[in-house]
Order: sequence, then C-alpha cells, then structure tokens
Amino acid sequence: MKKGVWTLFFVAMALLLFLSACGSGDEANSAPEGESPTQDRSNEEDSNGNDEKTKDKLVIGFSQVGAESEWRTANTQSIQDAIKEAGHELQFSDAQQQQQNQIMAIRSFISQGVDAIVFSPVVETGFETVLQEAKDADIPVFLADRAVDIEDDSLWVTFLGSDFVEEGRKAANWLVEEMADYDGEVNIVELQGTVGSAPAIDRKKGFEEVIANHPKFKITQSQTGDFTRTEGKEVMEAFLRSDGDNIDVLYAHNDDMAIGAIQAIEEYGLNPAEDIIVIGVDAVKGAFEAMVAGKMNVTIECNPQFGPQLVGLIEDHFAGNELPKRIAVEESMYTMDQAADLIESRTY
Ligand code: AHR
Repeated sequence: MKKGVWTLFFVAMALLLFLSACGSGDEANSAPEGESPTQDRSNEEDSNGNDEKTKDKLVIGFSQVGAESEWRTANTQSIQDAIKEAGHELQFSDAQQQQQNQIMAIRSFISQGVDAIVFSPVVETGFETVLQEAKDADIPVFLADRAVDIEDDSLWVTFLGSDFVEEGRKAANWLVEEMADYDGEVNIVELQGTVGSAPAIDRKKGFEEVIANHPKFKITQSQTGDFTRTEGKEVMEAFLRSDGDNIDVLYAHNDDMAIGAIQAIEEYGLNPAEDIIVIGVDAVKGAFEAMVAGKMNVTIECNPQFGPQLVGLIEDHFAGNELPKRIAVEESMYTMDQAADLIESRTY
C-alpha cells in the first residue's frame, strides 16, 4: 500500500516537470486559447527584416503627376531624396499627366504589397474606387501636393500641400494693389493649369474671389495651357492673335506657362512686364531669371520641397501617431525688384 502511494507521487512529479519544460523559454508560442501561435505577428520580421510594429524600413510607392514643369521636377527630386535618405525603399511611377496611368500605378503598388502609397493626383475626381482598394488592402495613402474631391476622407491619412486658393488670392491682391491708381478697365487673360486639377480649380477660384470686389478687373480670355511652357506659349499666341492690343495682364497658373507666354508676347512685338503685366505661380528659378531680365512682374511661391516633411509624416503614422487630415505648406511671394538679390539663394 505504502509503495503504491510513493509510485503515484513520483509519476505525478515527473509529469509536472515534463509539462513545465514544454512551456518554458518560448513565450511567443504560448498563444491564447483558440489562436494558433503563428496568428500573433506582432514580433515577427517582415521581408525587409523589420519588426512589423516598428517598420524601420518601409516600401513606399510614389505615384507622381508627371514631369510637366520645373516645379514638378523639384518636387519629384525632393520626395525621392527624402525617401531614400530616410533608408526606405522607393517604387516610383510617373503618370505623364494621365489619370489612367495613376490608377494603374496604384493598383500595381497594391498588388506588390507596398507599406505606404504617396499619391499626387493629376485631377481631383475619379480616384474613389482605387483608393478604396488601397484601404481594403490596408495600405495607407498620403496625398502630396494635390487634393482629391472625394467625400470619404478615410481613404487617405493626410494631405500635405499648398493652399492653392490662397495662392490665387495673393496673385489678385498683388494686382489690385499694383493697379490701385489706374482708372480704366483692366483686361486680364488667364492661362489655366490642367483641366480638373486642384491647382487649376483653386487658383482660379482664389483669384476671381478677390477681383470680384474690384469691378475694373475683367478676365477677358481664359484657357488651359496644361501647366507646360509649350502650351502656355501656344495659348498666349492665340490670345494675342484674337485681341493682342487690349491685353493688360497675364495671370498664369504656373511659371512655366508664364515663361512660354513671355516668349509669345515678345514675338508679337510687345514688352512683357511693361506692356503686359505678367503674374506667375511657383517661384521657380526660371521665374527669377525672367524677373531679373525685367520680363515678369511677380511670382507667387508654391513650395515643392516638402519631401522631408512628408517622410516624417509617414514615419509618424507608422509610429502610431494621429495626423491632421490637412497640412499646408508655408509659402511667400516675390516681385521683380526682389529677384536679383534672391536668385542665388533659390534652391529650385
Ligand atoms: O500641383 C502643383 C502645380 O503643378 C504647380 O504649380 C505646377 O507647376 C505643377 O505642374
């Protein structure tokens, strides 16, 4: 009887020792009931060798508008450099100003399983479906430079870019002040940016909002030049052909179109900045050169160099921080008489 009790005691102890040895030294495998050990991925490494929680190295897909302007080139450079300098991997796609190309690029980023998408939309509308696909795939989207016109703002994390309406207002306010002592009618021709794009819509809106309070200012002709020098020149030629002697002001939605138009004005036999006031937007080096040469009156700054700020925001998001839905880039404006002193310090 006594021997039987001791045997039972030793068997129970051996069983206990065996069970505790199985459980020790492998906490990650002690999954809660009903969950297999592999379901908890919080400490696993992804294909980049990152802990999934910290994401030190991200794969970022960047769908850029195109290469239509000096501004765009500087913007692409700034974002690409910032992504690489922060040690992330970049997948880049240039949409050549075609919405279809952007939709394809975003779908390709989704199927590659990138960690984040940076997206600068060519136009404001028509991206709802593809952004929903990114959301369904759990890939955060960061809008850079341009906005989309979509009600569901859960489709992107944040929008970092300029206040284009304010840029339009600045251009008009400068003009109103510049011509404060002029009594006659002021005929303005407008070179619009890409049809349907946020900067074209907003820069028009802001400009018109201000001149609406000053009846002597009238937009007599307005057409798109698609943000390019070539089209800016061609459209300005058409404006001049139709009413060349009655144009007082050119308002171009970007400097590239203004620079193209300056050439058209000269070829028509007029002096840009003297016979026709020339207003541009962006403050690119080319505009400073035109101002130093006395051919352009003013440029409203639209800062393209927000790459480091953008990458900081992406990292903040992956660190679990809540971001505001809208972050505006700080900017200024520059007139002809400031240009010579500032041109050397311009970085784009
Ligand atoms: O979206 C920003 C605008 O796009 C810039 O003003 C213009 O130059 C560019 O093409």
